[in-house]
Amino acid sequence: MNFPLSKLAPVTAGLLVSLMAAAPAAGQSAAPATAPVSPVALVDQFEATGGKFEGYRRSGAKGICAMGEFVGSAESKNISSTSAFSGQKIPVIVRFSVGGANPKAPDNAKSQRNMALEFALPNGEVWQHGNISAPVFGAATPSQLLGRLASQQPDPATKAADPAKVKAFAEANPEVLIQGRWFASQPVPASFGSVNYWGVHGFAFTNSKGEKTAGKWIFEPVGGLQGLTDEEAKAKGPSFLFDDLRQRVADGQVAFNFNLEIAQAGDSLDNATLPLPAGRRKITLGQLRVTSVSPDAGGSCLTINFDPNRLPKGVEGLGDPMLAARSAPYAVSMGRRLGEGAKQQ
Ligand code: HEM
Repeated sequence: MNFPLSKLAPVTAGLLVSLMAAAPAAGQSAAPATAPVSPVALVDQFEATGGKFEGYRRSGAKGICAMGEFVGSAESKNISSTSAFSGQKIPVIVRFSVGGANPKAPDNAKSQRNMALEFALPNGEVWQHGNISAPVFGAATPSQLLGRLASQQPDPATKAADPAKVKAFAEANPEVLIQGRWFASQPVPASFGSVNYWGVHGFAFTNSKGEKTAGKWIFEPVGGLQGLTDEEAKAKGPSFLFDDLRQRVADGQVAFNFNLEIAQAGDSLDNATLPLPAGRRKITLGQLRVTSVSPDAGGSCLTINFDPNRLPKGVEGLGDPMLAARSAPYAVSMGRRLGEGAKQQ
């Protein structure tokens, strides 16, 4: 992969260089070949490493359900024939969450935020997304994810991970560190509504003439990014995001531009640990507006597992092994949490 760093503003280029310090060398940008991994083994390992919280999603456990609407832009029709881009107002179920398995994860940490979506399309199709607040994921393949989580599993005696195991795994798999560097470089988000959310995988869009456009997508808050200083984050405490979201939505302030960054020849689209190079042409596919938020742990999200392989006609994945591997463990997790008497949407 070839980054045109000379074309970037110095600050952006510096950040990208330091984030990419752990990336594979040029020419090794495709996701490495991967052995099949059982979805049950993955979910078991999530529980062993992150804790088992009955009734909750095994990832993104601390979440809140909301409703919204999406309207495709005029330009989006040239990109894909999907009825999502018809220009009609499309109802969307939205779930915002804090990364990880812990339903009490602190809101004031420099950690992952998620925005999961379900579009109910005019032609009856459903389009689901699971987007995260980083341009990259923390593993390129399911086997690398399994190995990484295993290296982080707490020792029963000390209740903490063995630092030597964590270090050895990261040294052998340096790309797993890129995501953590991203979070460390960013402020704590002030709101679920004030942070970017990336799809992370490469997708291709096909228009009515059969022409394809490939890239990676990003949802960018219409009102701009807003982060907290370390002092502000400390003062906010561990639980402010749900109330903040309700207030901002009541004030009509939560909306995102759904943007597509268009890949150029040679860009890697099948490795979720590699972002697209900065400065790629970006087009706005439409706008998502959040219109209401569940007043409690309820809402319509309960039986949705936001499977990013549920794509409409006119949109397809591009061979990222991490994308392909998501459907089955999501179903396993949903089966477990519903079987346990789900406690949160
Ligand atoms: C094989 C790899 C992965 C596994 C095993 C995995 C596992 C899971 C599980 C078990 C859930 C909870 C599902 C439910 O109970 O409904 C989940 C949710 C989620 N995952 Fe993953 N995940 C993987 C890859 C990824 C990647 C690459 C991303 C990056 C975009 C991602 C983003 C999300 C998001 C945003 C949610 C929250 C969805 C919600 O609000 O319900 N996951 N994941």
